[in-house]
Amino acid sequence: MKHDTIERNIGLMALLIILVISGGTLVENVPLFFLKETTQPGPGIKPLPPLALEGRDIYIREGCNNCHSQMIRPLRAETERYGAFSEANEFVYDHPFLWGSKRTGPDLARVGKRYSDDWHRAHLYNPRDVVPESVMPAYPWLFENELTGRDTEAKMDALRKLGVPYTDDQIATARDEVKGHKEIDAVVAYLQQLGTTKSNKR
Ligand code: HEC
Repeated sequence: MKHDTIERNIGLMALLIILVISGGTLVENVPLFFLKETTQPGPGIKPLPPLALEGRDIYIREGCNNCHSQMIRPLRAETERYGAFSEANEFVYDHPFLWGSKRTGPDLARVGKRYSDDWHRAHLYNPRDVVPESVMPAYPWLFENELTGRDTEAKMDALRKLGVPYTDDQIATARDEVKGHKEIDAVVAYLQQLGTTKSNKR
């Protein structure tokens, strides 16, 4: 009888479906907010140095994350190709995180140290120079635009409010570390540290 009432009343059925899904979502997600493995930085995870932090912002500005994910799933095909699978505790200082789901290009979660700085520079200047069949866009302006470091301190300060443990000293010297570098230096610094705290083995 009760079943009948639910099946004949779409409003009630929708409400109950929402309740069940919300319940499931809460049970799956809420514990993760309190687990050390997901909320505390993993071994070797440090806040990005100022130049790499600027590189990350350029990475977002240029939309690199629209074609590249940064999350290796725990599946054989992925770990063989990209390296050890990603863990939540590697991303605690990422605001916003750049996991992504669209892979026009390869996952970059562990690309750090896989290529030389020179390779990255050549590749970003014109991907076809090093990978002839590449469909990745060229980014020649990164070699011209110079960084002033004007906003770096403010960015680090904002991140500190979100829980990234930058020290006063790190913030005070940030501008000088960034100033005068070209944007390409920042992007390469960012790429070269990606995922290097865990084994890069393919
Ligand atoms: C339109 C999609 C697209 C965009 C946008 C894009 N890429 Fe790529 N990327 C690719 C493709 C496809 C490849 C594989 C071919 C190659 O190596 O060029 C690739 C390869 C790479 C590789 C080599 C990865 C490896 O493991 O071999 C790096 C590093 C990289 N991209 C960085 C970047 C950065 C940094 C940006 C932003 C400045 C960017 N990409 C933007 C599509 C894209």
